[in-house]
Amino acid sequence: MSKIIQAVRGMNDLLPEVAPYWRHLETVAREVLGAYGYRELRLPLLERTELFARSIGAHTDIVEKEMYTFEDRNGDSLTLRPEGTAGAVRAGIEHGRLHNQVQRWWYGGPMFRHERPQKGRYRQFHQIGAEAFGMPGPDVDAEMILLTARLWRRLGLTRLRLEINTLGTPETRAAYRERLVAYLRGHIERLDPDSRRRLETNPLRVLDSKAPGMQDVIAGAPSLLDHLDPESRAHFDTLRSLLDAAGVEYRVNPRLVRGLDYYTRTVFEWLTDRLGAQSAVCAGGRYDQLVAMLGGAPTPAIGFAIGLERAVELLAQSAQVPDDGPQIYLAPTAAQTATALSLAEALRDRGLRAECHFGGSLKSQLKRADRSGARYALLIEAPTQAVVKDLRGDEGQRTVPTEAVVAHLVERLGSA
Ligand code: HAM
Repeated sequence: MSKIIQAVRGMNDLLPEVAPYWRHLETVAREVLGAYGYRELRLPLLERTELFARSIGAHTDIVEKEMYTFEDRNGDSLTLRPEGTAGAVRAGIEHGRLHNQVQRWWYGGPMFRHERPQKGRYRQFHQIGAEAFGMPGPDVDAEMILLTARLWRRLGLTRLRLEINTLGTPETRAAYRERLVAYLRGHIERLDPDSRRRLETNPLRVLDSKAPGMQDVIAGAPSLLDHLDPESRAHFDTLRSLLDAAGVEYRVNPRLVRGLDYYTRTVFEWLTDRLGAQSAVCAGGRYDQLVAMLGGAPTPAIGFAIGLERAVELLAQSAQVPDDGPQIYLAPTAAQTATALSLAEALRDRGLRAECHFGGSLKSQLKRADRSGARYALLIEAPTQAVVKDLRGDEGQRTVPTEAVVAHLVERLGSA
């Protein structure tokens, strides 16, 4: 026998039983984004490698070791998108939609990172992201956080907590970086090899390290919040007061630095403790310099992305999702196939979901009816009458004339 080919590690099949959670999440997200004026953008999965190196940052984990990069047949270096912000900015510049304009855009779809797979962390994963261009003030930062909070409420996800921080301007960060490097050099013998390497390339990421032996060194490090420029301080204070006024709870986490280099000022994450090590369900922040860095006119911007695998896992743990399986399972004898086909069509005309069973014994049909999740089985052994059997409630079974079956079921299940 030939060997069975399996899916690529870290890339998941989504089987029908989980699809309702995905659809529910996507439907609600679409509605909530629409309610705030966000419009959908569909972007290619492949971009030029340079786009990600220039935006996410050459010394980030994503660019250094996680991208799916290859040469195409023309010898161009292309990369499967590891995130959506860079592509959205590229598209905005390319189509002249950013200069002196306000845009609220959202997108969804698969992203690719060659990380070590574990629960909540995959190599192909999905995001829904939103990007707002052209608004420099903290008002849109607050609005974006309100949007995400509304989404969790609508989905019934109650146990997410919000952390916020500010990274200041690139200049403040450069000055802070020097202070931080000086401090970390004073404790060099305590740093693990990864952090020593980052000391040269991306020292702020050392603050993100989970290495147990370094936690007190990290705790004692100078805080960027104490070295902010006055404008960034005012921006952050206003954001906080807007969130307070809106009744959104949050914690300021001065160690929240994010793994992508394009951020300035506001950064935020929604976290859960129900997914093991992978606690961030949604993350984002302001990136006021990125549009200019990629060749556009300077345009302030802010965005976030939700990790759908993680959000779906929370949904499955905590919320009721409407079932979209069949409501009625028709089980005809072989001689009554035509009656069943026409009854099923009539039920669908009334907006009901009906699945027909073709062939097999009555016993196996009833077993399948039960497994289908349908509320009623319809047993058809004669052209003139059918037996309606309640598979979940206490209505038992009753014989109904064929011409009255549709009305009988519409009365019980409603009509779309
Ligand atoms: P990110 O923090 O890299 O930000 O990813 C956002 C979210 O995507 C994470 O919080 C997590 O839920 C999910 N995620 C990331 N990597 C994986 C993975 N390997 N497996 C499963 N889920 C994952 C961004 O991507 C930015 N583009 C967000 C943004 C938009 N900032 C401004 N605008």
